[in-house]
Amino acid sequence: RCGGRVFSGIQPTGVPHLGNYLGALEQWAELQREYRSVLFSIVDLHAITVPQDPAHLRDNILDLTASLLACGIDPAHAVLFRQSQVSEHAELSWILGCLTSMPRLRHLPQWKMKSKGKNEGSVGLFTYPVLQAADILLYRSTHVPVGEDQLQHLELAQDVARIFNKQYGDLFPIPKALLSSTRRVKSLRDPSSKMSKSDPHRLATVSLTDSPDDIVLKFRRAVTDFTSEAVASARGLQTAQYKLLVAEAVIHRTAPLRAELGRLRADRGHLERVLTRGAQRARELAAPLLQEVHKRVGF
Ligand code: ADP
Ligand code: NA
Repeated sequence: RCGGRVFSGIQPTGVPHLGNYLGALEQWAELQREYRSVLFSIVDLHAITVPQDPAHLRDNILDLTASLLACGIDPAHAVLFRQSQVSEHAELSWILGCLTSMPRLRHLPQWKMKSKGKNEGSVGLFTYPVLQAADILLYRSTHVPVGEDQLQHLELAQDVARIFNKQYGDLFPIPKALLSSTRRVKSLRDPSSKMSKSDPHRLATVSLTDSPDDIVLKFRRAVTDFTSEAVASARGLQTAQYKLLVAEAVIHRTAPLRAELGRLRADRGHLERVLTRGAQRARELAAPLLQEVHKRVGF
């Protein structure tokens, strides 16, 4: 297996969708077999950069844990944990934030998208990519699986690592992107935006818990530029027939996940225990690194 360390995170802002699965989670399950050291984090600190209902957030965290396990993440091969249970993330984020300029953050996609171009978001939303850099660097990660939507954020993490290394001496490897081969999956309602957990339009996102009937409905209502001339394998099909074919392919591909997810979601005690154990293992790696950072900074 490859040396080096893989880190990636996902926000507990809802049940994962087809984009998360094809663009990230499917690859995560493979990486844990290919790399010796792999960490996956449920990034709840990131989730509260936009308003969250506490009861919902708590449910979403356990639903996401169940989803990750259903997608094949195996606590025997990967450290699966919740970001807020490892306080070193927030501490390192503060230190890295002191090495990051405001203009460097202002042009990043998350901020431009969620602050609605008006610079109206929270400080947390603005510094979101700094926390992401801390997530990665805290474990001296060498490889980060990302969708193309996250590439600019990884570039910030690389910059921050270089700045720290230059100022305080080499400590952080410069993390490399493992770019998913899947192109971003688009919103079913607005092809100019990506499918996202936080999209309020119910029909825009195919979630991993959707029933087959739901999936058919969503594809039937999907915005499409389909023409049977443009898609070689669909010659002679009407748009409605083609949509049904796609829906059936998705239903087939996600069927095993749906079944496993249903089973896992029922045992909340088990999910809590997986996270508690994961956090212990993450802290064993994070605590000595943060101590070293403190020493270098002069604390
Ligand atoms: P979301 O935007 O849906 O809340 P996250 O920000 O939690 O998703 O991203 C989790 C992972 O899923 C990241 O690796 C991200 O690149 C990937 N991802 C998110 N949305 C899509 C999409 N529509 N298509 C492909 N990959 C995606
Ligand atoms: Na996102």
